[in-house]
Amino acid sequence: MKNLATLTNLKGKKVIVRVDFNVPLKEGKIRDDNRIVAALPTLQFLIKQGARLILLSHLGKISHKEPAKVEDEKKKNNLQVVAVRLGELLKQVVVFSPDTKGPGLQTLVNGLKDGQVLLVQNTRYEVGEEKNDATLAQAWAQLADAFVMDAFGSAHRAHASTFGIPELLKKQGKPVAIGFLVEKEVKSLAKVVQVNPSDRPYVAIMGGFKVSDKIKVIDQLLAKCDYVLIGGAMTYTFLKAQGKAIGTSPFEADQLDYARGVIAKAKGKLIFADDYVVSDAFDNPTKIETHEGEIRGAMMGMDIGPKTIAKFTKIILQAKTIFWNGPMGVFEKPQFTKGTEAVCQAVRTLGKKAFTVCGGGDSAAAVAQFGYMNDFSHVSTGGGASLEMIENAGHLPGIDVILG
Ligand code: 3PG
Repeated sequence: MKNLATLTNLKGKKVIVRVDFNVPLKEGKIRDDNRIVAALPTLQFLIKQGARLILLSHLGKISHKEPAKVEDEKKKNNLQVVAVRLGELLKQVVVFSPDTKGPGLQTLVNGLKDGQVLLVQNTRYEVGEEKNDATLAQAWAQLADAFVMDAFGSAHRAHASTFGIPELLKKQGKPVAIGFLVEKEVKSLAKVVQVNPSDRPYVAIMGGFKVSDKIKVIDQLLAKCDYVLIGGAMTYTFLKAQGKAIGTSPFEADQLDYARGVIAKAKGKLIFADDYVVSDAFDNPTKIETHEGEIRGAMMGMDIGPKTIAKFTKIILQAKTIFWNGPMGVFEKPQFTKGTEAVCQAVRTLGKKAFTVCGGGDSAAAVAQFGYMNDFSHVSTGGGASLEMIENAGHLPGIDVILG
């Protein structure tokens, strides 16, 4: 495997490290620095070797197709705040380049000393980043002697910084490798992509809002798993598809046929909720009830109910392998945390009896919020990336370009 151990003689070498510093910000402040912390082992290793680090990351989205929005979005998604936090965590100065390319950036790169770190402004300021523009990839690639991919959360994107640069450097015979974070993610997720008979039952727990986002992954999981538990708002599309009342709960009208098809072919592997915690409004509810079987009246589903929690817990406790993606309810609101927290609690009870993976995104945020980070064998730093890894039998473009 082309990992960090394969990179030698790094002293004085300029190494581009693609990191995923796409951290949540609120009023310009970092709300959760997990992704920065997760990149530290790779950065500290390279610093110790005397490499000169050029860090690239995106932050948020910049809608280049709507020019009126671009300046505002650039202001909102300025990476400078991350350079400050990274400096605190590394306990050394992190130089920040406001320029994403050109002479300003080149001067800062030329000025780097062994073991110094430079963070470049948000790669998505560049219109060519998401198009994997060859000129942009070349402008970045020529800065470096080597490339390290440690942005697991962005490895499903074939962009200039995740794909174009390593592709070019490889062609030029320069070393490319995956970092410690990507290596750990790949090894952990491999265990839920391909599961041995001795590691069964394999139970997947799927939640979140949209069925449409998770069609491919549900199909894959049904082929691999012994049980797929369905919670979260996607439940209501499945309920509706079975002709049941869902009150004012959200559902996807264009997914009802798909849902019916999945239920028919799942042969009992798909496990649904039996009861629901419902409320009369999403914000500031005045009435909260538990409904069984169906959701009656002008009420909307907000969480799975106590009978479902007991049923799901019983299945989880029999598992030897778990993959979880998507919360069971609106866990951001204190009245509706129970279903999501019950999944965390069941995984804690399982302990070392099973290999347990939380697939990033909102469920990882819930795991962190409720204090269960150390109870999972692995909490992924990639939401979309871990789902695509399952959909594509363990392959992601930003990793294949290096390991392939
Ligand atoms: C993520 O947060 O999932 C990754 O950083 C990828 O971000 P993106 O969906 O904007 O490409």
